Amino acid sequence: MNGHEWLITQPTAMTEKDPKSQTRRSAAWFGRDDRDGFIYRSWVKNRGVPNDQFDGRPVIGICNTYSELTPCNSHFRTLAEQVKIGVWEAGGFPLEFPVMSLGETLLRPTAMLYRNLASMDVEESIRANPLDGVVLLMGCDKTTPALLMGAASVDLPAIGVSGGPMLTGRWRGQPIGSGTGVWQMSEEVRGGRMSREEFIDAESCMHRSHGHCMTMGTASTMACMVEALGMGLPGNAAIPAVDGRRNVLARQAGRRAVEMVKEDLRMSQILTRAAFENAIRVLAGIGGSTNAVLHLIAIAGRVGIPLALEDFDAIGSALPCLVDLQPSGRYLMEDFFEAGGLPAVVREMASVIDQNALTVNGHTLWSNCAQAPCWNREVIRPWSEPFKPEAGIAVLRGNLAPLGAVIKPSAATPSLMQHRGRAVVFRNTDELHRKIEDPDLDVDEHCVLVLQNCGPKGYPGMPESGNMPIPKKLIERGVTDMVRVSDARMSGTAYGTVVLHVAPESAAGGPLALVRDGDMIELDVLDVSEEELAQRRAAWEAPPAAATRGYVKLYIDHVLQADRGADLDFLVGHSGSAVPPDNH
Ligand code: FES
Repeated sequence: MNGHEWLITQPTAMTEKDPKSQTRRSAAWFGRDDRDGFIYRSWVKNRGVPNDQFDGRPVIGICNTYSELTPCNSHFRTLAEQVKIGVWEAGGFPLEFPVMSLGETLLRPTAMLYRNLASMDVEESIRANPLDGVVLLMGCDKTTPALLMGAASVDLPAIGVSGGPMLTGRWRGQPIGSGTGVWQMSEEVRGGRMSREEFIDAESCMHRSHGHCMTMGTASTMACMVEALGMGLPGNAAIPAVDGRRNVLARQAGRRAVEMVKEDLRMSQILTRAAFENAIRVLAGIGGSTNAVLHLIAIAGRVGIPLALEDFDAIGSALPCLVDLQPSGRYLMEDFFEAGGLPAVVREMASVIDQNALTVNGHTLWSNCAQAPCWNREVIRPWSEPFKPEAGIAVLRGNLAPLGAVIKPSAATPSLMQHRGRAVVFRNTDELHRKIEDPDLDVDEHCVLVLQNCGPKGYPGMPESGNMPIPKKLIERGVTDMVRVSDARMSGTAYGTVVLHVAPESAAGGPLALVRDGDMIELDVLDVSEEELAQRRAAWEAPPAAATRGYVKLYIDHVLQADRGADLDFLVGHSGSAVPPDNH
């Protein structure tokens, strides 16, 4: 060895030796003097990593869902750099790695089909690598639950960093919200009240910055869930993606991840029953997406916390919605951030929040939020004068949905919440799209639209088709809402009197499959005699499977119904963080 090589490979002494450094799981790779230790370190050094990075300091993985195919996460390279700086500042060693990224707008047939696959990628990537803790970078809808589910099944110290919402969309001087504006304007086009040229013009104005949908859709809801569960730092949910404070939060998360490893503060200590109950309460308080029901149940399943549909009814359905955000209200996430964000909502919910639930910063959710200010009472209403009373997600369980279904009252038309009407049935989305424009379709505004074969197995993947378009001839007469029932999901940015997640789904032989045109339905109750239903059940044939090989076959064979979070049956639970055998 010549002098120069000696100089650049000399270890730099750490100021204080961490007594736990040799017991961390990364030491099983980097803390060895043998042949395999050489292999584990040497290849990592190829990009200029000095020897002192292998002295036992916490190794923090940065799980990155950056992809040009996931536009909502397009700024994640910048966020990852900020996390790295934070890890270095706190004396850790950051190692960034990619995982499957799920872009809501481009993936077909639906990103939900791949949520569980991405969670497997996350779980196995964390466990198989020399990581002591992990920072989860997540933004677009399914990236958040996928990363939380996968990381929870490993149960290392972990901290979530959401990408943050886009800036407010603006068209012709007016704010327009992601998704919500699309649904509204497309109905205006169908009703002949908006031109195609205007529609295309608005397309460039809706999404004008990095970040995820800026309505209280599924991405914003799940970012709020990250904060309410205690998995993110205070303020995680609402700081806009392009605001410098989002970068500060990412850097702080990097620093905190190093401390969490030293404290051995694991996900299972954060994701307790109390944390999930707080998340359900906050879901009501923000008028959040119905998709959160599926995701929270699936995440809870990974840490062994029993969470059922009934919990959403019992804990959340009677609670008020406090925020006036689209799709239920008027404002957008930038307004929510300026008004005080999620901490201001939690403070208002003092009387119902479990004040003992711990968060990643080592303090309770309550102590993080107890003094949070609110700067705009139009956006975040006081508990005593809510935006909408009793607006939490309601669970239905009539003979049409023996295993349950959900509805979002805050996004529904109050007068339709008690409704009985004649069924107009569509067997799949192809039939829906073909018939819904037909001027001869036998339908009026009192009918109940029913969509079959859009559940987890049936589509497959449970698409966001539940907010079926209003029939064209009714749109032209000014009808804006009808009761709709399906085993599908609904975009968090959508609205309407829509019964979703009917379980069991029709492709699994649930009663939804037996509904016929002309049956009378009262939300979740099918008014057909037991004898008639038995005859229809005997004649029912399952639709052909959508795949005979590959991941989609695995998914169809193992996906659980909506009431169990639509996880794969063999992924429920956790395998922990034990170090796998050596690879040579
Ligand atoms: Fe990514 Fe809406 S499309 S969050």
